[in-house]
Amino acid sequence: MICYEYINEYIRNTIKKSEGILKELEEFAKENHVPIVHPEVAKLLQVLGILKKPKRILELGTAIGYSSILLSQILDTDGKIDTIERYELMVERAKDNIKKAKLEDVINIITGDALEVLKCLNKQYDIVFLDAAKGQYPEFLPECLRLLSPTGLLISDNILYKGMIASDDLVVRRKKTIVKRLRFYLDTLCNSEDLETSIIPIGDGVALSYKK
Ligand SMILES: C[S@@+](CC[C@H](N)C(=O)[O-])C[C@H]1O[C@@H](n2cnc3c(N)ncnc32)[C@H](O)[C@@H]1O
Repeated sequence: MICYEYINEYIRNTIKKSEGILKELEEFAKENHVPIVHPEVAKLLQVLGILKKPKRILELGTAIGYSSILLSQILDTDGKIDTIERYELMVERAKDNIKKAKLEDVINIITGDALEVLKCLNKQYDIVFLDAAKGQYPEFLPECLRLLSPTGLLISDNILYKGMIASDDLVVRRKKTIVKRLRFYLDTLCNSEDLETSIIPIGDGVALSYKK
């Protein structure tokens, strides 16, 4: 938790409960300890999507397909999502869930390590949602920026990493390398001439970077 518990609770209580497949996946994720976007981040994605009306979205880190299904709701007409996942078990689960949601024609899962897969992609995306291994964010960045269209939005999740990014006192030893890499990543985003970045302290921290 990176903000006061009571503020978080207040914000969460403002959010309408999910229904249908999203509700099912939230319950599955909770029971099986699968990390999915926090409700307040899900809400932010929905609002940004309504503003942006994306035709193409690229996601790094599919897990069980929860955020892909959520993002499919904000696509423009005939919009498509490519989502990358390297863990076979998750790929299978995501495929089942996407089929259940009748979104096979909208969401394309690409199996493999995002670092390798990104190099093979050549489309332009209106939104890139980065939610894979946090320690790899700096390596993903050049490829994500190459694939992001001008005026596109790069959304990076878990950017404050349980508050460790902002305070050395919170850093546990086994997370030192990830923290170092995430700090470097944020520095790069915030100092890039090509981006305008805002860091938002909701969920586990989200960075919104607009490509000029
Ligand atoms: C936080 S979960 C994604 C949650 C999902 N975006 C959601 O909100 O429903 C991160 C996922 O990224 C995958 N992942 C991590 N590093 C990856 C990489 N280098 N390439 C592909 N997938 C990766 C993990 O296997 C995991 O399933």
